[in-house]
Amino acid sequence: MRKAQSPVYSKVCKTEVVCPNDTNPMGILQGGRLVQWMDIAAAVCAQTHAAKICVTASMDTVSFTQPAHVGDIITMEAKITRAFTTSMEIKVTAWSRSVFKTRKSLISESYFTFVAIDQDGKVAAVNGVKPSSATEKSEYEAAAKRRNHKLNPHK
Ligand SMILES: CC(C)(COP(=O)(O)OP(=O)(O)OC[C@H]1O[C@@H](n2cnc3c(N)ncnc32)[C@H](O)[C@@H]1OP(=O)(O)O)[C@@H](O)C(=O)NCCC(=O)NCCS
Repeated sequence: MRKAQSPVYSKVCKTEVVCPNDTNPMGILQGGRLVQWMDIAAAVCAQTHAAKICVTASMDTVSFTQPAHVGDIITMEAKITRAFTTSMEIKVTAWSRSVFKTRKSLISESYFTFVAIDQDGKVAAVNGVKPSSATEKSEYEAAAKRRNHKLNPHK
């Protein structure tokens, strides 16, 4: 029988520092590099929840709401919202903070869908999610609507 795990069990916090090689000629963090970091945070979260290798199936729209600059500290939180049969939705939120400031700014967030894979490369069932807090419960409910929209975009 599938067990249900708390989203806290697999929550991932990842930190990076923006280096010159991560930026455009203006010293602003490239969007693709941020998405790469977010994808890794989400993959670790999915694989921890599933205890299996997981692949990225899709990601929702990614908006970049604030620029981050060379030397800024980027923190990312990846948290599972819901598991279906073999797929899981992971919410990733990213913030930027200057070394000289205490306040961090939200720079991006998106929902990633990962699918668990077995040793033969076939899709594999994963454990369920047991939300506890009001936010976790609301994300859990909304995840079903987002999934329906992704799988049936014209309905
Ligand atoms: C993701 C992948 C494993 C799905 O394989 P598939 O043969 O379509 O599998 P299925 O049709 O049985 O679907 C498996 C699950 O994936 C979900 N899924 C498939 N495509 C999806 C998509 N585009 N978005 C969201 N979920 C998706 C299905 O809803 C299903 O979920 P469920 O079991 O929880 O109901 C396959 O498409 C794949 O290997 N893609 C490449 C992954 C990869 O390399 N990622 C890195 C990109 S660089």
